[in-house]
Amino acid sequence: MSKLLQAVRGMNDLLPDQLVVWQHVEAVTRATLEEYGYRELRFPVVESTELFARAIGAVTDIVEKEMYTFADRNGDSLTLRPEGTAVCVRAALSNGLLHNQTQRLWYQGPMFRHERPQKGRYRQFHQIGVEAFGMAGPDVDAETILIAARLWRRLGLDGLRLELNSLGSAAARAAYRAVLVAHFERHVATLDAEAQRRLAHNPLRLLDSKDPALADLIASAPSLLDHLDAESRAHFDSLQQSLSDAGLAFRVNPRLVRGLDYYNRTVFEWLTDRLGSQDAVCSGGRYDGLVEQLGGAATPAVGWAMGVERLVALVEAAGRAPAASAPDAYLVLVGAPAERAGVTLAERLRDAVPGLRLTVNCGGGSLKSQLKRADKCGARHALVLGDDELAREVVAVKDLRGAGDQTSHDFAALAARLHATVQAR
Ligand code: HAM
Repeated sequence: MSKLLQAVRGMNDLLPDQLVVWQHVEAVTRATLEEYGYRELRFPVVESTELFARAIGAVTDIVEKEMYTFADRNGDSLTLRPEGTAVCVRAALSNGLLHNQTQRLWYQGPMFRHERPQKGRYRQFHQIGVEAFGMAGPDVDAETILIAARLWRRLGLDGLRLELNSLGSAAARAAYRAVLVAHFERHVATLDAEAQRRLAHNPLRLLDSKDPALADLIASAPSLLDHLDAESRAHFDSLQQSLSDAGLAFRVNPRLVRGLDYYNRTVFEWLTDRLGSQDAVCSGGRYDGLVEQLGGAATPAVGWAMGVERLVALVEAAGRAPAASAPDAYLVLVGAPAERAGVTLAERLRDAVPGLRLTVNCGGGSLKSQLKRADKCGARHALVLGDDELAREVVAVKDLRGAGDQTSHDFAALAARLHATVQAR
């Protein structure tokens, strides 16, 4: 295929058949989030590079090697958003949404990361995310996690595992960092250059390294959970209690540290075994320092984002994809007078039958070829209008999915029959 026709590597077209599942996932998610009192926020796809560097952290995979960054015509450095949290905070702050009030917000849309594409990992991918601002307690951590659990149930998914950890306060983490660095420094000879660089700049990230050479060192590393401050400990205990009370199973994973620097206290991931190595479907946590770090008043916050591609793949694998919606009727128009009359007939039918899915044959064709098109698009009925029907002021209705019977109706009877079809689907 010519290069011109190829989409950019790692970026996908989403075709009508695929979008049936996407729209189902989006509709279920939207309804669920609204039930929990979350309101949608939309923000730009492009932001200043500085926003992401400051919020996500300079020594992270995303900021160091995955951002799509470019200079615009004024010479300003801009970046295609690699995630939504930093932008959500920026938008909420700049529009005064965080002033003396709590907020429950959600967003959806494309995100961009220059990662190595593989199944479940793309360079343009889609997230749906929630962010709750102004609530410091573990109750809202539990709420966001329970929203996700409800979503899995509504989408018919089982087999998603919840892993939880607490990163503690900034001070506790700083103390732990020193202990962790001492641990790895004792074995510095076994660290490659990249691991040594991490050790110097962001040692916690060594804990979720997938490098097999580090596995033993990571397993024997001191646990962050043994270094939590008392308040974070109480917060984490209370969250676990709430989740248990709600009947939700989870595993505490002391090595779960997340790849973005803004987190403190609760972090979590929903994981699956069904998507190969890209196993995180929904990830998030608490980021109590970020609003202040970006220039707002100190505001506790918690949220998550899920990867829509991964969720869609799970819904398909579980056989829970809904059927594509087919037209209720296909209007077959044979001959020039019928073609002319058909335009008005179709509009009158749409007025008379709310919700009617009606496809009108455009571009002529024989009766036979039009009936073929009607069948191919999956329509329930073919409505046939030709010279004979025009003269008798009726429309012939052929049932394409049932017994194949054909009857003639005047307008009122036709509208009534189509109304019944719409109701029954
Ligand atoms: P994240 O873990 O970087 O967190 O991404 C969240 C989810 O997006 C992942 O669990 C995964 O399902 C999906 N995802 C990430 N990268 C890709 C990719 N290259 N291809 C396909 N799917 C991907 C965040 O972005 C945080 N902003 C989440 C958050 C919200 N934390 C607090 N609030």
